[in-house]
Amino acid sequence: MRILVTGGAGYIGTHTLVALHQAGHEAVVLDNLSNSSATALDRVALITGTKPEFVQADIRDREALEELFSRESFDACIHFAGLKAVGESVAKPWEYYENNISGTLTLLDVMRRHGVKNIIFSSSATVYGDPEVIPITEDCPKGQCTNPYGWTKSMLEQILTDIQKADPEWNVVLLRYFNPIGAHESGLIGEDPKGVPNNLMPYITQVAVGKRKKLSVFGNDYNTHDGTGVRDYIHVMDLAKGHVSALKKIRENVGLAVYNLGTGVGYSVLDVIHAFEKANGIRIPYEIGERRPGDVDANYSDPSKAWKELGWKTEKTLEDMCRDSWNWQKKNPNGYEA
Ligand code: NAD
Ligand code: UD1
Repeated sequence: MRILVTGGAGYIGTHTLVALHQAGHEAVVLDNLSNSSATALDRVALITGTKPEFVQADIRDREALEELFSRESFDACIHFAGLKAVGESVAKPWEYYENNISGTLTLLDVMRRHGVKNIIFSSSATVYGDPEVIPITEDCPKGQCTNPYGWTKSMLEQILTDIQKADPEWNVVLLRYFNPIGAHESGLIGEDPKGVPNNLMPYITQVAVGKRKKLSVFGNDYNTHDGTGVRDYIHVMDLAKGHVSALKKIRENVGLAVYNLGTGVGYSVLDVIHAFEKANGIRIPYEIGERRPGDVDANYSDPSKAWKELGWKTEKTLEDMCRDSWNWQKKNPNGYEA
């Protein structure tokens, strides 16, 4: 299939480009590079042997989208483009709603005007809020999000659901990611956060590479086996392959479908630190700090719907995730910056 990949220069996008190539699909990337680098696409080319066509444009730029859709034909869009920093979204709600929601509305309008009505949307486990039941199935009601970023995901899910309901020609697959970590095994592409990392694994790798002194573990009085927060970490290459499986579903005219993409296993912060130390032979200094506002005790998926309906299953272990995260960081201590 010929796929438009918005946000394709980003962390999950680049890994998905590799998976799409391996599965024989052709990708065109549209990204404004607001949180990524064109170098990442050169790296994808080193892995796959082919550089995907790249259009540097913003999903809010209707003219640029019109021009692209008039020139090219697409079977589907995988829509990664969006702002994703939770803390920043609290400080800049207007920017988050405008970028993520206005941008997606513009994209959807241009898509339908050009008869492209197949979309895979990057949603998040954050839409469940503080989940009522764990492991979380797709039937678990959506909850109260704790930040504007989360609300953009929740609202965009609703918008896409309503659009599909009104026009059954649309095929919409909502993928709710749990916690993607890791990198392609080559170490050529990986997660490249700007500034101080907000998320656990990039913080750990920056401690390992000597950029940060020690990790602060956000609370050890949660209701979990060792008191630290439990999450469902998923290797980004497994996540990437989930998108390829979702494309098969689009081909079958699925209408609307929602899938959790996770492993179904929860690990605590201390589990991850110890797994990283064991996999890589590096000690990670840490201290127990305060809880981070908005964090929940435990959050992990029941991924069995994706197993059954997509024939997709995660293959990589926590050890693989720790090894590949470190392989990327040590080969690229400053990310994509030279
Ligand atoms: P990322 O920031 O690395 O990638 C997003 C890409 O979108 C970036 O390359 C950025 O430049 C681009 N972009 C942002 N706004 C744009 C716009 N208006 N027009 C064009 N391009 C734009 O993030 P990621 O981790 O690869 O996440 C991809 C998607 O998955 C995002 O929608 C994110 O919210 C979602 N998601 C990520 C996680 C995670 O932990 N990484 C978890 C759940 C959901
Ligand atoms: C975060 C986002 C969530 C997003 C998800 C995707 C927040 C509040 N939530 O979730 O919206 O969908 O990423 O991956 O940012 N931790 C530490 N020290 C650190 C960093 C994290 O102890 O320096 C702990 C956290 O308290 C948590 C675990 O590590 O228990 C994972 O944190 P993180 O990687 O930020 O992911 P989430 O909080 O699950």
